[in-house]
Amino acid sequence: MTKQQKHLSRERENPDPHEKNNPIPIAVLAVVVSLFAWAVYYIVTTQHDDDPTLGDRRTLATLQGKPKGATASANGAELYAANCVACHQATGTGIPGAFPPLAGSEWVLGDEKVLANILLHGVTGKLTVKQSEYNGAMPTFKGKLDDNEIAATLSYVRSNFGNSAGPVTADIVKSERDQSKERTTPWNGDDDLSKLKH
Ligand code: HEC
Repeated sequence: MTKQQKHLSRERENPDPHEKNNPIPIAVLAVVVSLFAWAVYYIVTTQHDDDPTLGDRRTLATLQGKPKGATASANGAELYAANCVACHQATGTGIPGAFPPLAGSEWVLGDEKVLANILLHGVTGKLTVKQSEYNGAMPTFKGKLDDNEIAATLSYVRSNFGNSAGPVTADIVKSERDQSKERTTPWNGDDDLSKLKH
């Protein structure tokens, strides 16, 4: 092999491969940068103290748990929603012919002692509310709600649904509860309740 031939054979070889300088496409880069910018903007502008009821129905009080024996803070709105709404409805208007209204009811706005007794023992038989007669069964809450809770619920119904009567105290509920300790049956509508009025 002559010197000339050696040179030619080397010439035929391919050059060594080398990596090309291949940058990220502009479009991909733009998407990444704008997503990052949006993320930063979102974190900076998001309010972390949003009203929890918007997404998570739990309140701060629920999450912290109720301190023991803290029924003094009984929440009338919550108690109403849990115990009364199924029959008397969220608007307190009841259902005509079946459940009497609490809105504008003479029983709700009237003597708070009678009202406490309605909740303590329940009512059956003929009951007149806003000139309509009902003949249903209002359950007793004697064993279910304590004095504070009944007072809070009654104060709530007396000051909502367009009602504006004063609050009912736990003391009144307690004294009515004590006075009617013997009772094991619901009041018999208008007949019994009219006798209760002092
Ligand atoms: C199972 C259905 C039901 C539930 C639950 C219920 N009630 Fe009643 N309530 C009635 C019925 C029915 C009457 C009418 C009773 C009758 O006709 O003798 C009534 C009557 C009343 C009355 C007297 C009449 C009037 O409309 O003002 C009040 C006050 C009252 N309920 C308040 C409450 C409150 C407060 C709660 C929740 C703690 C509650 N009720 C839960 C069915 C219910």
